[in-house]
Amino acid sequence: MSDDGTLALHGGRPVRERMLPYGRHEIDEADIQAVVEVLRGDWLTNGPTVARFEQAFAEAVGASFAVAFSSGTAALHAAAFVTGIGPGDEVITSPLTFLASANCLLYCGARPIFADIEPATLNLDPAAVQAALSPRTKAILPIHFAGLPCRMDAIHTIARSRNLTVIEDAAHALGAEIGGRRIGGLSDLTTFSFHPVKHITTGEGGMVTGNDPALVEGLKRFRNHGIEREVRQRQKSTPGAWRQDMIALGFNYRLTDIQSALGLGQLSRLDARLARREDIARRYREAFAAMPEATVAPTRQGTRHAWHIYPLLLNRDRLERDRETIFQALRAENIGVSVHYLPVHLHPYYRERLGTGPGLCPAAEAAFERLLTLPLFPGMSNEDVADVIAAVQKVIRWARK
Ligand SMILES: Cc1ncc(COP(=O)(O)O)c(C=O)c1O
Repeated sequence: MSDDGTLALHGGRPVRERMLPYGRHEIDEADIQAVVEVLRGDWLTNGPTVARFEQAFAEAVGASFAVAFSSGTAALHAAAFVTGIGPGDEVITSPLTFLASANCLLYCGARPIFADIEPATLNLDPAAVQAALSPRTKAILPIHFAGLPCRMDAIHTIARSRNLTVIEDAAHALGAEIGGRRIGGLSDLTTFSFHPVKHITTGEGGMVTGNDPALVEGLKRFRNHGIEREVRQRQKSTPGAWRQDMIALGFNYRLTDIQSALGLGQLSRLDARLARREDIARRYREAFAAMPEATVAPTRQGTRHAWHIYPLLLNRDRLERDRETIFQALRAENIGVSVHYLPVHLHPYYRERLGTGPGLCPAAEAAFERLLTLPLFPGMSNEDVADVIAAVQKVIRWARK
């Protein structure tokens, strides 16, 4: 560490030698062995390991079923499709999310309606959802930003009053809980992502969970071209077993057995990883809680945070430098900070297609200007965490008023 506190941005010694990413997967020998076993077997895709992963995942999140997909985006698309979201429908969602949460609605010909967030949680504000209702509203699609559960009670109350579908985007929230119940079985459908920075990974992958068995066949069909039966059923020797009737327009959104073997191993270590994520978040909170130049990541009573990412909120009235400069200074210290997210309604495609723009969701826009994502993944050592803390303190000392 630089003794005189000169920023790496100004030629000083960086806090660490190598860049620390904001997120990273963790694969162990058992994961590799499980994948190799599938590679030596008969089923690379459409086989029994997918079903085993689905079963284990449903149990892990307390849902009656889980259907695997090739990505979290495919899972969202499928969830929107099977709940009948289509042209002319409006779906209320948060602007502070990854694009896929809203894109899945466009895939179905529906219109995302961006309701603002609560500054205190960075999640969809139930009052804003209420205000955004229209005769065309078909569903609500909340996102548990960073892994902090939304106010699902309030959202369910609104949904019940208007007979709306609720699809939770839980890409950040595997393992998160509300009142002791895991997210995954609380709404009509819930979707997850297994991208490498997420809680568990399959390289690419996703899952839809829920409790209504009537939706399972539709989900399986949708991931398989809209064909009525999957390959293993067609292998049976009954008359007509070869037939593949396409009865809806689906896609190839299948997760492979190779990926599912990896997912099973990853899932078995979920609890330990959640505990480590909590531990790192606690260290950040302890280090930054008394720092007036920033506000620590929000938490909420009665919920368990899954800590997918650690969003630090800069207090701009206490700082001389803007977020971009602070971001550059931290990167120069080899801290791989990031920003989640440019609000969806500010992306050029949305502005042009839907006529959205600045001013639509002031709380999300204000939060975005202040947000900085700090590295957080279970493989971080305590020294890595200390490096992040030292770098933030070093940069903030320079950036403050
Ligand atoms: C909130 C959110 N929704 C959806 C997705 C899409 O998931 P995937 O990358 O697996 O398609 C992501 C992640 O990338 C996400 O963060």
